[in-house]
Amino acid sequence: MSLSKEIAKRRTFGIISHPDAGKTTLTEKLLLFGGAIQEAGAVKSNKIKKTATSDFMEIEKQRGISVATSVMGFSYKDKRINILDTPGHQDFAEDTYRTLTAVDSVILVIDVAKGVETQTEKLAEVCRMRDTPIMVFINKLDREGKDAFDLLDEVEQKIGLHLCPLSWPIGMGQDFQGVYDIWSQSIKLYLGGNKQKIQESVKIDNIADSILDEMVGQKAASQLREEIELIQGVYPTFDAETYRKGQLSPVFFGSALNNFGVNELLDCFVEIAPSPQPKKAEERLVKPEEENFSAFVFKIHANMDPNHRNRLAFAKVVSGNFERNKNYLHVRTNKKMKFSAPMTFLASKKNVVDNAYAGDIVGLPDSGNFRIGDAFTEGENLHFRDIPSFSPEHFRFINNDDPMKAKQLNKGVDQLMDEGVAQLFTLETNGRKIIGTVGALQYEVIQYRLEHEYGAKCSYENYPCHKACWVESHDEQHLSEFRMQKSRYLARDKFDQLVFMADSSFSLQMTQEKFPGLSFHFKSEF
Ligand code: G4P
Repeated sequence: MSLSKEIAKRRTFGIISHPDAGKTTLTEKLLLFGGAIQEAGAVKSNKIKKTATSDFMEIEKQRGISVATSVMGFSYKDKRINILDTPGHQDFAEDTYRTLTAVDSVILVIDVAKGVETQTEKLAEVCRMRDTPIMVFINKLDREGKDAFDLLDEVEQKIGLHLCPLSWPIGMGQDFQGVYDIWSQSIKLYLGGNKQKIQESVKIDNIADSILDEMVGQKAASQLREEIELIQGVYPTFDAETYRKGQLSPVFFGSALNNFGVNELLDCFVEIAPSPQPKKAEERLVKPEEENFSAFVFKIHANMDPNHRNRLAFAKVVSGNFERNKNYLHVRTNKKMKFSAPMTFLASKKNVVDNAYAGDIVGLPDSGNFRIGDAFTEGENLHFRDIPSFSPEHFRFINNDDPMKAKQLNKGVDQLMDEGVAQLFTLETNGRKIIGTVGALQYEVIQYRLEHEYGAKCSYENYPCHKACWVESHDEQHLSEFRMQKSRYLARDKFDQLVFMADSSFSLQMTQEKFPGLSFHFKSEF
């Protein structure tokens, strides 16, 4: 098969949600439909358990297991589907943001009762930054929840998506009978009162047809007709091209747990979701069907075996065809390297792979040389830099507790930062190092790993900081005044970008007012 045909078959996406909305359940059901797993429970058992939130070793162990589910590939209707898993645990939110740079589209799961939650907003913002096409799945329709129209309003207002329902619920909670699939103009119902069994879809070309009344009862039928009429009046007609540009989001309703609406979602997904997309490098736009191979690392998974510092770097193939044992350029170090045991992922199995195409994810064994964002090419100098860092929530000085092991500590800290475990800021005035994290859990992880993998001991000291703000200057004079007045709050991130460590929201606001020639960003990419 030609390169372009192989690439056109690929659909690489992520499922995102606020924890507990049903991401794991939906992933599992998609894998079941795709024949990639035979029984429910296979993915779920790998999920970080809620009860383990305070026990980081347990979480790390579970993360170790979940390397198998980091990427789940399967074939469905002659498409090759790659689902990239995103950790649900909030302390690992940065992992999720980075994974989102490697997907070509996402499915956003929302709990019908809870609506838009904080994590949903943040994740959707990351998708909108790069116009990633979003499909919405409203889950748990078997439970009482918000009115469907109110919920869609909430999604539009809170996360700024333009929506277009492609399915519509018939009843909800106790009265949930099934869904009308606007996309394929068919209706799918539960069998009798038993919510375990689902009828075959019945095609309904015209919802005015009296067959609808026979199927769902007169009351529900006329309500559905009214609602569909309202939808047609209020929402735009679906257009796949507008969706693929990230400007229109189709919405599906269902219940992942009960297998309801999942098939419809998948069938529509394979038809409309984008194939691998071009990616911006600093030098140029790289197109997937280019002959020459290129890829970038979006995630590094450390092995929990303390005796081996081996890691697995996950790289998304951006263009061309990756081959095992071929020499590629590791752009940052300008070194040639080849991989004798690259991995691909099929459901829960890892396999050594000979070939991978644009859109695919390959796992590259690494002994500590790779960094998030690294590029591999056939020789060209390409830099894929759009891996955002967000301002951390927690900040602490890191101190060396064993002067004999300063080298080990520095190396360990560098490598852990390359893996993306946390962010490092170095104060300009005295060179002291500050570790910034999303969750407090990471401090324990870092301390433990430094000791067990690098033989270094560290302790922390609180660093009072409200937000790390990346500084952009439009005015040289303002910049130099700002540098003088705020010197003790200035730091450098790992790319040597200037960062203002604002100690309170008040001081940030005052600084913003005083230096209008500067912009302060809460993320490293602007
Ligand atoms: P997450 O990955 O987004 O965190 O969510 P997950 O799939 O783990 O689902 C969270 C909880 O919601 C689970 O229950 C799951 O069974 C339930 N759930 C998922 N989809 C539906 C649905 O369509 N309807 C209903 N009623 N519940 C749903 P749990 O009790 O927390 O876990 P478990 O004991 O069932 O594993």
